Parts: sequence; structure tokens; C-alpha cells
Amino acid sequence: MQVKEMDKKFLSRDLPPDDIEIVKSDGSFLFDSKGKKYIDFLMGWCVGNVGWGNQEIKEKIRKYNGPDYVNPNYLYKSWAELAELLAKITPGKLQKSFRATGGTEAVEIALQAAMSHTKRQKFISIEGSYHGHSIGAMSVGSSDFRGWYKNLLPDCYKIKPPLNDKAANEVEKLLKQKDIAALIMEPIICNLGVIIPEKEFMTRVQSSCKKYGTLLIMDEVATGFERTGKMFASEYFDIEPDIMCLAKGITGGYGGLGATITTEEVAKSMEYEFSFYSTYGWHPLSVEIAITNIKYILKNKKQLEKNIYEMSKYFTERLSKMKFKYPAKIHVKGLAIGVEFKKPNYVNQIVAQSRKNGVLFSSLGNTVFTLFPALNIDKKTAEKGLNILEKSLIL
Ligand SMILES: Cc1ncc(COP(=O)(O)O)c(C=O)c1O
Repeated sequence: MQVKEMDKKFLSRDLPPDDIEIVKSDGSFLFDSKGKKYIDFLMGWCVGNVGWGNQEIKEKIRKYNGPDYVNPNYLYKSWAELAELLAKITPGKLQKSFRATGGTEAVEIALQAAMSHTKRQKFISIEGSYHGHSIGAMSVGSSDFRGWYKNLLPDCYKIKPPLNDKAANEVEKLLKQKDIAALIMEPIICNLGVIIPEKEFMTRVQSSCKKYGTLLIMDEVATGFERTGKMFASEYFDIEPDIMCLAKGITGGYGGLGATITTEEVAKSMEYEFSFYSTYGWHPLSVEIAITNIKYILKNKKQLEKNIYEMSKYFTERLSKMKFKYPAKIHVKGLAIGVEFKKPNYVNQIVAQSRKNGVLFSSLGNTVFTLFPALNIDKKTAEKGLNILEKSLIL
């Protein structure tokens, strides 16, 4: 049976797959089963931040000689090492990590920790956003989820962008009731096409949360690990969250792992009375990969940030000059790039045509396409990919 038929018969999907069978990855390139080479401007959607085929990480995987598995209740040195590393690189007083398998679980833990810490049940989040597909994560995600599932968590309030003074007033009004457990958001909202909140909004939200006893959860699953040009996007706003959710770029795609890092006080409230258990949270091999990946980012931080800055400028310049059929709004922070159109469905044509011509990226809803290239992409590859994208506009 061909892959396509097997997939159709045995894999559950919400939408049919893109017609491309990936067999190999290297640097900023993906290769399909027909030998066609693609430039990857998607990198697994904010996953492959350090590029595919990173030799330091691959070498670590090859040489791994640790335990196959460790029961979560035992001590294991690499867990402590990764947790210490996360406490060192995350902003503010974030100190203790919960071990998760990915982003959704990291968000789920964050919501539970907020409820048990504050003894409150309500949440605030940004309308249209995405935090994962569990019942809890969907409850604080787009209200559209409520059209499918009627019994998501109640009392989840949504703030509509733009995230400005008016939006901060709305948040403050809700917080004043002193019954909101947490406000959760991406500091730069990749899932809405790279929306950048006003600094004033973030400053006011942080201080109001403190004032009214609400925890601030920064979901850095997509923005973390230099995607936006800083280790964490929270740093742009001098945000010191109570909880941060991490996944995706934490392993660069070489393993599956998520983390919920909280302050000492928040972590304390999950002890004894509440709990969280995850059989595969922080699988030993994935932990080794995460440590190697983070150390690689730290070692090359200066060089990576220089490249992100230069490539960010280059992508912005090129995209601003492109002759799109309809007016485009370009949102950029580091190498998180969103191109937004008022005209629905146009983006789907661009994405499909570009894929045919050899560049991969994706649309978001039907009005935005996003580019998340590798943070170490070279100018030549970026130029070639953008030339193909430009050529694909002539539909
Ligand atoms: C901001 C954000 N939070 C959470 C998630 C869920 O992560 P995962 O797919 O690893 O469960 C995603 C996934 O795209 C995300 O972008």
C-alpha cells in the first residue's frame, strides 16, 4: 500500500495532509520521497530553531548511554540539570519546573497550578489565540472552540486585540473582581500572525495582575528559545511572569519535551494537596537533547542574535517590496513573521503555489501566512526562498 493510502486508512486527521512525503531534513532544507528539495521557512512551526541536522545534537543522540527510562518518582541527575538551566535562562523569579511532554501539557499544568495556588477558577486570555488542544487549553484558546465543545471550562474571559490601553482597561476591570486565577497569553502572539502588544499594555497587565492577586502566565511555547530575537519574548516587555510554558524550540525538534516553570511560591502550592503526573514527561533522551540544544543556543547566542537581526531586516525589506495582489500588513519580531491580508483565502493560494515551486510555509486561518525560518538561515538560502515566494505570487 502507498503511504498516501495507508495514511488515509489508518491516520486520524482533522484535515487531509499536504501532498508531500518528507524523507530527509538538513539545515534549512526538507527533501520529499521524489527527491525534490524544499526550502523550509516553517521549521515545524517554531520548532527547528537551530536548523535541521545540527551535529552537536545528533552526536549526543548517537552517543547516548543513559537509562532507557526513569520513573518520575526517582532522582535523576539530568532532570535536575535541565531544571537548573531553565531557572538560569528564564526571566524573573522562575525557579521550579514541572516535567511535561509538550506544549499542551505545559499549558494544562500552568492552568492547574494557577487554580491550586490562587484557589480561584477563572481565566483571562486573548481572543482567537491558541494554547493547545486539551480541554483546559481550548478553554483559554479561541472562542471558536466553544462552537464544537459546549462544556469547556466556564468563566474564561477573552480580550480582543489590539492590545492597547483600551484592552488594558478591560483587563483591569475584570481583575478588580479578585476572582481571576490567571491571565495567559503569548508575549508576542505567533498564533494570531505575530501580533505585538503595546508595551504599555504589558506593563499595565503585569502590575494589575500583581495588585489583584492574579497570576501571569506567559506561553512561550512558540516564542521561546530566540524565535523573536531574544531567548524569551517576555524580555521585550520586562515581564517577570509567575509561570512560563515551554516546548517546541526547547529541543529544536530532536526530541519531545515540554516544561512549566513557576516561581517557588506557585510550585509550593502543588505539593501534597495537588499533584501532576506525566509518565513520559522529560523522557531521559529528550532531556539530554534539550540540555544540548540550550547549551548550543547559549554558546552561539551572540552570533544567532546577529543573524536573526540581519535576516529579520532582510525578510521585512523583501516582503514589503513584493507585489501582492491585495494590500498586505507585515508583522515581524526577530524571525517570527506574519503577513496579513484583508482578502480571505488569498494566503492559501500563495502557500500552495510556493510549495509547488519549492518553498514551505503555512497559512493561519485564511488571512495570514507565517514564516518561521531557522534562526541560523544563511542569506543565500533566504534570498532563494524569497525569490521563489515572489515568483509564486504570479498565479
Ligand atoms: C503558543 C502555543 N502554546 C501551546 C501549543 C501546544 O503545543 P503542543 O503542540 O506541543 O502540544 C502551541 C502549539 O502550536 C502553541 O503555539
